[in-house]
Amino acid sequence: MKKLRKIIFPVAGLGSRFLPATKATPKEMLPIVDKPLIQYAVEEAIEAGFKDLIFITGKSKRAITDHFDSTLERFSNVDDKKAKLMDEMNQIVPEDVSCIYIRQGEPLGLGHAILQAKPVVGDEPFAVSLADDLIDGQPGVLAQLVEQYNEQQKSVIAVQNVDKSESKKYGMIDSNNFDSDLVKLSNIIEKPDPEFAPSNLGVVGRYVFSNTLMSFLEKTSFGAGNEIQLTDGIKLMLKQEEVYAYTFKGKRYDCGSKLGYLMANIDYGIKNSEFGKDLKEYIKDIK
Ligand code: G1P
Repeated sequence: MKKLRKIIFPVAGLGSRFLPATKATPKEMLPIVDKPLIQYAVEEAIEAGFKDLIFITGKSKRAITDHFDSTLERFSNVDDKKAKLMDEMNQIVPEDVSCIYIRQGEPLGLGHAILQAKPVVGDEPFAVSLADDLIDGQPGVLAQLVEQYNEQQKSVIAVQNVDKSESKKYGMIDSNNFDSDLVKLSNIIEKPDPEFAPSNLGVVGRYVFSNTLMSFLEKTSFGAGNEIQLTDGIKLMLKQEEVYAYTFKGKRYDCGSKLGYLMANIDYGIKNSEFGKDLKEYIKDIK
């Protein structure tokens, strides 16, 4: 059995829901308090033991590449506090972890983005993380998925209960048995109308796949939005091998939406040791 070492971060999306903020800044660089979304996703991956971080980037995404470089200069006249901060900035990615950047030349969908990593993934299993789903979990949701993958030796995708009226925002799954937090998929549909949603379980942006997903994505034709959809690749995979869905423990914020993004900033702000109490007081008094 090959160990899980590789994780793909598809970060080429245009971020049009956040214009004008994302006109020249990648949406993954938007901060929650003081840390960009992509850094939360990277830290979660490192915590889960991933060693090769594969970013699928595109136009106007250079800031992401720059962010994980350790190029911050140390000035001789900075005070201790600032020097400590600078050192921390240089250690976001530990030495035994590599960042690999691949361009997605055309915006042809999430499935297409993942396929761009095929030459680097080789014959290994791999994970996928969508940074605009920020998940506050202890341990992180990727560590939870890795544990399930190691036990099952099958692909596992993260799901959560969603209101059926929201089904058009998610890949929605079906199973023959919803008895536990780990269920075997019988079907998956990308963003169905509520009346066609097979259950209340919606996919959130964390996945661990056996290597065969790549070959199924290669066979996936253009689907919704004239894009190669990851969900359609998973659907093909289901015909040949088992895929599991895991209801993770933790709170997910949809930071692809403005409301979810603001909620995350409020919750993470309130938890901040420096000013959390003051923020809470301030919010309490809002009329
Ligand atoms: C993507 C996937 C969808 C999944 C969602 C989770 O959609 O296509 O299946 O439920 O991420 O955030 P997107 O939000 O990129 O449109």
